[in-house]
Amino acid sequence: MTTALVTGGAGFIGSNLVFELVKKGYQVTVVDDLSMGLKANLAEVMDQIEFHEHDVCDHEFMHQVLDHNFDYIYYLAAVASVADSVERPYETHRVNQESVVDTLEYLRVKNLKPKKFLFTSSAAVYGNYPELPKREDSRVQPLTPYAVDKYASERYTIDYGKLYGLSTVAVRFFNVFGPRQNPSSPYSGVMSIVTKCLLNDQEFTLFGDGKQTRDFIYVKDIVNALIFISETPASNEVYNIGYGHQNALIDVIHQYEQAAEKQLKIKFAASRAGDIDESLADVTRLTKLGFKPQWGLENGLREYWEYASNNG
Ligand code: NAD
Ligand code: UD1
Repeated sequence: MTTALVTGGAGFIGSNLVFELVKKGYQVTVVDDLSMGLKANLAEVMDQIEFHEHDVCDHEFMHQVLDHNFDYIYYLAAVASVADSVERPYETHRVNQESVVDTLEYLRVKNLKPKKFLFTSSAAVYGNYPELPKREDSRVQPLTPYAVDKYASERYTIDYGKLYGLSTVAVRFFNVFGPRQNPSSPYSGVMSIVTKCLLNDQEFTLFGDGKQTRDFIYVKDIVNALIFISETPASNEVYNIGYGHQNALIDVIHQYEQAAEKQLKIKFAASRAGDIDESLADVTRLTKLGFKPQWGLENGLREYWEYASNNG
């Protein structure tokens, strides 16, 4: 039976990924300390997976888990908030970089060779240089501890692959939205906070003028891309994952209001430190590999609202 380890598998993207892997008949192991993830995210599959509520920074523990010799390792565990990394740079560094390097090192030392080690990096590595769209070989400018750690970890991922004969890929997600994104922290993904505010008639604080742009992508397309890439021979390479569309935050909010048939109460506030002004993916490399997204922004927003209003 095909086996997969998903770190951060109780989180937003991780739980959506775990569902698809279970559907494919994989035997899935999840390690998540539930700092942001929720057991409830995995309720429907909990009896079909091996779940460890544990910190990926506990190296001894991770070594025992890695001894299973998985076919696929999807490394998603991270403190996913850029703003949180600015508040807690060292704590987030331990998760976002040290734990990744330790895992790679253990694979090297024990000569474990998964079919793919996939690390989830971020568009945040590109920073604020003006050239758009961002290609995988565009200049990087990591402006926050989060971005520095993501960039370093993806380099370790690629270089461990090249130096020690591991099949690795790093993916740079652009802005992902959809079911099971936890809105409970002020640092949560923006569309999960917008959703919570719409559901509860709360005021939403928009940091900046709303003209900052992001390449929003629906989580189902992200999960399909992760599975697709991991099953190709792609190796020791970085891939952007986005739609290749640049959307102003305020426009996406208006589009979402239409899907929800509700109006959001918005209060404007100063921009956040380290916030990126403009973001847009060049997805040529992923397209050439043969991947086509199926959902798109509009369908994704509609389906997200439908899910949120039924599960609210
Ligand atoms: P998330 O916060 O929902 O998922 C991360 C998971 O990691 C959570 O379940 C959390 O509990 C877990 N975790 C955190 N610290 C841990 C630790 N020390 N030990 C074990 N588990 C720990 O966020 P997400 O949006 O699902 O992000 C998944 C991955 O994708 C992250 O690596 C994130 O940096 C990356 N990413 C996300 C986006 C996005 O737009 N959501 C964009 C780019 C990259
Ligand atoms: C997001 C991801 C990060 C990822 C990056 C890749 C989360 C929490 N962050 O960062 O993991 O690496 O995309 O591009 O998933 N905003 C508001 N009000 C709010 C919250 C946010 O106006 O209540 C604004 C922010 O200031 C920012 C935009 O919305 O301008 C997006 O913020 P956020 O969802 O936190 O995403 P990024 O910082 O882009």
